[in-house]
Amino acid sequence: MPVAHADSQANPIYGNYYGYYSKRPFIRDPRLALLPTEFFVGKRVLDVGCNEGWVTCEIGQFRGAHQVIGVDIDDTLIRAAWKRRRTVWSLQSPESGNTCEESFPPPKRQRLLSDASTSDNERAHNYFPASCEHSYGPLPIPDRGYGTFPHNVTFRTVDWVKDKISEDHNQYDIVLGFSISKWIHLNNKDEGLREFFYRVHQCLKVGGVFVLEPQPWDTYSKARRMSETLKENAKHLQLRPDDFGEILGKLGFSHGQRLGVTGKGGFRRPVDIYLKQR
Ligand SMILES: C[S@@+](CC[C@H](N)C(=O)[O-])C[C@H]1O[C@@H](n2cnc3c(N)ncnc32)[C@H](O)[C@@H]1O
Repeated sequence: MPVAHADSQANPIYGNYYGYYSKRPFIRDPRLALLPTEFFVGKRVLDVGCNEGWVTCEIGQFRGAHQVIGVDIDDTLIRAAWKRRRTVWSLQSPESGNTCEESFPPPKRQRLLSDASTSDNERAHNYFPASCEHSYGPLPIPDRGYGTFPHNVTFRTVDWVKDKISEDHNQYDIVLGFSISKWIHLNNKDEGLREFFYRVHQCLKVGGVFVLEPQPWDTYSKARRMSETLKENAKHLQLRPDDFGEILGKLGFSHGQRLGVTGKGGFRRPVDIYLKQR
């Protein structure tokens, strides 16, 4: 069941920040940009800790994923994520690639847009000014269009460390854990973080990929000051982000591969990928 609510904003102990993407704005998420263009095509993806769904929507809209599920512990954020999906749909050109009847890669006329320069792509996907939605409301989403944006994007409110969702049963090709390990670690201690990694392993197909952006250890000290519980939990933590690769290895993942480091200031973090081998 959801555990975080709107009033938790005074103290976002899960990292459940509202307006997160005004502090970390992007047109294309730089972490996703580290992954090859074809990485998500046709894949089932789980985005754990999706916040307001910006990354989830980008994968569904631009990366050709068959299905993307964003989960977050905070129901207010999940409602914002559904709204984001609607907004992104409302802004895109009627001729852009992922309209409901089309598959990825899109047919020739649309492929011109997908292959075009970023600025052409931006024009296609910001075709309607944001003021249109403000004035007239969002565009309706067509009934049909399984596997293409926006039908390929859904959101669920869940504490994913503790509770399963029905979509987990089919297993995923890719699980994303962007900027979430610290919050899971501080709230659930070492055992909870191990449980999270175990669940990721369980829910991935063999050959599937875990994409992890761990927050560095030095960022824990500010976060734990948010509450007495986090402060107390932090005292007992033995694991450090440098240990994550070893834990994942024991579960059956490959050695981590560091794709790069992105972000500025306090958001400067590595992005690593782990392949489920067994
Ligand atoms: C710092 S934000 C990162 C958002 C997004 N992943 C990104 O990097 O752009 C962390 C998110 O994880 C969510 N979260 C924390 N613990 C969670 C849990 N146990 N289950 C699901 N979501 C969780 C928070 O509510 C928050 O929205």
